[in-house]
Amino acid sequence: MLQLNDPSLLRTKAFVAGRWVDEPGRGEFPVFNPADETVIASVSDTGRQTVRVAIEAATVAMAEWKLRTAKDRANILRNWFDLILTNTEDLALLMTWEQGKPLAESRAEIRYAASFVEWFAEEGKRAYGDVIPAHATDLRLLTVKQPVGVVAAITPWNFPSAMITRKAAPALAAGCALVIKPAAETPLSALALAELAHRAGLPDGILNIVVGTDAIGMGEELSSHPQVRKLTFTGSTRVGKLLMAQCAGTVKKTSMELGGNAPFIVFDDADLPTAVAGVMASKFRNAGQTCISANRILVQEGIYSDFLQELTRVVKKLKLGDGRDPETDIGPLITGAALDNVDSLVRNALDCGARAMAGGQVSILGGGFYEPTVLADVTPDMKVFREEIFGPVAPVVQFSSEAEAIALANDTSAGLASYIYTQNISRILRTTEALDFGMVGVNESMISTEVAPFGGVKESGVGREGSRYGIDDYLEIKYVCIRGI
Ligand code: SIN
Repeated sequence: MLQLNDPSLLRTKAFVAGRWVDEPGRGEFPVFNPADETVIASVSDTGRQTVRVAIEAATVAMAEWKLRTAKDRANILRNWFDLILTNTEDLALLMTWEQGKPLAESRAEIRYAASFVEWFAEEGKRAYGDVIPAHATDLRLLTVKQPVGVVAAITPWNFPSAMITRKAAPALAAGCALVIKPAAETPLSALALAELAHRAGLPDGILNIVVGTDAIGMGEELSSHPQVRKLTFTGSTRVGKLLMAQCAGTVKKTSMELGGNAPFIVFDDADLPTAVAGVMASKFRNAGQTCISANRILVQEGIYSDFLQELTRVVKKLKLGDGRDPETDIGPLITGAALDNVDSLVRNALDCGARAMAGGQVSILGGGFYEPTVLADVTPDMKVFREEIFGPVAPVVQFSSEAEAIALANDTSAGLASYIYTQNISRILRTTEALDFGMVGVNESMISTEVAPFGGVKESGVGREGSRYGIDDYLEIKYVCIRGI
């Protein structure tokens, strides 16, 4: 059993209208430790009915919340930020337990999650409107920014805390109430955050967490209920498209942070150790289960074999293991299905002529462990080039010219993150403009921060999270035209 400093952070019921609740007749569902597949908790399996109750509670609570001053809301968010940081160790332990990532990464995610709360507490105070020069002397034209309404958030298991605060903090700062449905694989992190939000002074009904296994039914309810005015989702492109279609029925505003297929381009003039370190950080963070993870490593012919050799050497040193072991570099994949998917992509690449320089198979450790893998001589016809891998597999592709690299990089329906490594300033400017992606890291692969806009183009999504733009998705612009001044 997990020992927390504060055992009351381990919550196993849904949080609705300030109370911990079950849904009569629906029972509980197990939460597994992906490292050894043991059951670590049983959580109330709430469904559509609880979602409806939560939406009702949010609607009622928001009527008062939206009238408060931004400063008042900011003070409560600031308390939440402080409580998250004070409880970092427990929150990180809960995350590693249910998600599998190494404890150091969980601690980093908790700090990352808290950073959105601090940032948007302040940004809420700056949701300025405009005074517009009018087209007649007796008119005055104004805009005011107002909260969009009740927000539904559907969040993933790969970043169980940060993807909640990246959505909840701007929504709360803007004056909205939320109903959040975290992934059924990682409900404990979400529920612990709700407990801390409650302690921070957030009024009942403003932040509701519904937990359950009926993802389709709960998703349908959240995306079709007329009182929900905005849906924000982080997850697969397939589910995002479905939710967007469902939201069309009541014309909801949507933010979608969907799948990626990030190219990581290494030119001949790149600094080799920096480029290898960049791949290691991007590719193997969270065992590769990250939307902005380097998915296709495109390396120019002049540096190809040196790069491959160095990358292979470093990858072979990575230690797989339980995330609670301080020696562990890479934890397990989230489920057996995720493991099978990664393995089938690797099998397809090997069958089509790729070479495994490191790893290339399911680990003998069992559980969700996959060997950190480097694949050489990958080509665009292989599935591993076309699909989001979501595992610790680095496919390396050789190219000759800059034009070829850009064509290969843009040859995908995804457009989330991309990376280039080069010392040439002209090339940096040319290629960053030519890449059809929402984000470009130049000689840097750790691009996520609360102060910058995170989001994609093409089928990778709609909207931006974090930064000064992140609150806009939770605000409506109201235009006021005053005659007779
Ligand atoms: C994601 O994978 O969806 C989020 C990654 C990040 O925020 O860095």
